[in-house]
Amino acid sequence: MLNFEFCAPTKFVFGRDGQHKVGQLVREFGGSRALIVYGGGSVVRSGLLAQVIASLDDAAVEHLELGGVKPNPRSDLVYEGIRLCKENGVDFVLPVGGGSAIDTAKAIADGACYDGDFWDFYCGRAKVVRALPHGCVLTIPAAGSEGSTSSVITQLDGNLKRGLNSDFHRPRFAVMNPELTFTLPRYQLACGITDMMAHIMERYFTNTPDVALTDRLAEALLCSIIEAAPVAMADSQDYESHATLMWAGMLAHNNSVGVGREQDWASHQIGHEISAKYDTAHGASLAVVFPAWMQYVCKHDVKRFVRFATKVWGIDPSGKTDEETALAGIAAMKAFFASIGMPQTLEQAGGKAEDIPALAAKVVNGKTGHFVELLPPQIEEVLRLTCEQK
Ligand code: NZQ
Ligand code: ZN
Repeated sequence: MLNFEFCAPTKFVFGRDGQHKVGQLVREFGGSRALIVYGGGSVVRSGLLAQVIASLDDAAVEHLELGGVKPNPRSDLVYEGIRLCKENGVDFVLPVGGGSAIDTAKAIADGACYDGDFWDFYCGRAKVVRALPHGCVLTIPAAGSEGSTSSVITQLDGNLKRGLNSDFHRPRFAVMNPELTFTLPRYQLACGITDMMAHIMERYFTNTPDVALTDRLAEALLCSIIEAAPVAMADSQDYESHATLMWAGMLAHNNSVGVGREQDWASHQIGHEISAKYDTAHGASLAVVFPAWMQYVCKHDVKRFVRFATKVWGIDPSGKTDEETALAGIAAMKAFFASIGMPQTLEQAGGKAEDIPALAAKVVNGKTGHFVELLPPQIEEVLRLTCEQK
């Protein structure tokens, strides 16, 4: 196990009716004038926004609203939010929604305390040293932004989708009521399931030895998600399966299973290029990239893939070579993604094979991955595998 520092101070308020506590939570963390950040309208239609506003009013927290965050959130709304904060003395940012609203809120919180362009942080020109506090109400189990250090924004100027990790990005609180996810379209739920599995697998495939504890935590999380997913997909009102997915999505990405080990993240970076170019949902991009990446790197440490196949997918290794067992695990994962309605190929995810060289060339810093380092020619090979059905 490698040395690590881990600070995850978020207060989680999990379970039914948590949204009615938002006003007092904002107060608890020092807020008196909040900017509510939300997406394209699902929280308006469900009545959640009205409930949040009522709770803020009860706690005498003043509030402004910024709606319209799109999936794969863009920089334009971040600039708008920063302006609103600066002009109105906002002291707390309150996203109500999924990763896109939360990531936008994190970027606004950074930029509101900075005189320059917030994008300086995302392209490595400056480091966040101060940010407004933020806390969230989560409506989709997926990105894990409710407990993570990460925020991912697309800069419209250049169409660059880039992530930024900072300890300032851990929310002060996260309200997680599984009932708020009952209104999710099945496709969005499936994207979320895929994303949280990807967050675990980016950490699972490592070269760091002696990480049995986090290996087992990762396998337990994956097995729980694989068990809950079909139940939640079949019954949009089933509380327990949605609760499992909601908490699993947080655990998948707050780094509990990633500490003390080198992590990979090539599939995410390649997926971000697909999302930036075609506006593909994040989870859908991962459903096509992750199996292709696995096929490409499998031989690097076939024993790790055998373990993944047997412990997570229940593949019986008897009568098979290690490579056959490993490939059976990858095939089982692909079949699982297909069973929940995820795309199988780049084309199904909205992409085109002719764009592959350009996609590979755009990956940040010209290389990606730690389990196996990939340069543009290898990234191209991974992307070519995403064009194959099987
Ligand atoms: O915009 P609205 O109308 O709210 O609709 C959203 C959106 O269309 C809808 N939705 C969310 N909750 C709903 C609902 N519809 C009905 N009922 C509900 N309860 O779902 C759609 C997707 O929402 P979004 O916030 O985009 O989903 P997600 O949480 O998957 O976030 C994706 C973004 O997060 C980034 C991704 O790259 C992507 O940009 N990520 C953020 C990470 C982080 N901050 O730690 C890590 C991830 O790896 C990821 O990169
Ligand atoms: Zn992700």
